[in-house]
Amino acid sequence: MNYSDDFKFKNYFNSRNRSLTKDQKSILDFYQKKISLESFCELEQLDEYKYISLEIGFGTGDILLNNALNFPKNLFVGIEYYKKGIAQLLLNMEKHNLKNIRLFYGNAFDYLKLAKTNYLDEILIMFPDPWPKKRHWKRRIINKDSVNEISRILKSNGRALFFTDNKGLAYWGLRHFILNADFNWEIDMPINCRNKISTYPSSRYELKAFKNNINPFYFKFIKH
Ligand SMILES: C[S@@+](CC[C@H](N)C(=O)[O-])C[C@H]1O[C@@H](n2cnc3c(N)ncnc32)[C@H](O)[C@@H]1O
Repeated sequence: MNYSDDFKFKNYFNSRNRSLTKDQKSILDFYQKKISLESFCELEQLDEYKYISLEIGFGTGDILLNNALNFPKNLFVGIEYYKKGIAQLLLNMEKHNLKNIRLFYGNAFDYLKLAKTNYLDEILIMFPDPWPKKRHWKRRIINKDSVNEISRILKSNGRALFFTDNKGLAYWGLRHFILNADFNWEIDMPINCRNKISTYPSSRYELKAFKNNINPFYFKFIKH
């Protein structure tokens, strides 16, 4: 299937390259076609993986890299529009000769519309931008429509993990997942959402929160 005829995506490749190193620029040129959302349909050919995880807004990609190294039989898909982050992760993939990562350079909202139904085992949303001003709330990754899409894309028993160090965003995200009848919040007691989920290494923004003595919120929702 070719998605490019039906969808128009914003092309982030034309954005400025000023802060990129020479290696980052050349790896982006090399992978341009493969990481554009138009190549998204190639994911459907990767059917040898039994467990597929998607990270939205992976930043510099430390968690993706760590997971891909530790679980070579799983596929890790990442979507990000931070050019330097994409370039850095591509360099790291080459360095470790990793085949079980697929990256897309684009907007997560576009990706969520394109992804196949009942496709993913896991979706990670780690420390998304909080967009505290009301007029910017529409930019928040979690909203009614994106949670509906996340539910559609996840397999039954699939999980959505959402971590944040921003109290306002924590309540916002929790509300959106709780209001969607497809999800159960996996928790013994609400207070436990302040305990780190130990199976995940710390992301860059999580470490920043620790440094500022902020105890993040950790949410895990299971699709039934
Ligand atoms: C605050 S950073 C957190 C990065 C990383 N997850 C971490 O915990 O260190 C949020 C990231 O989400 C990305 N992002 C925000 N909105 C996005 C969108 N609509 N599509 C793709 N990436 C997005 C930003 O570019 C940024 O790298």
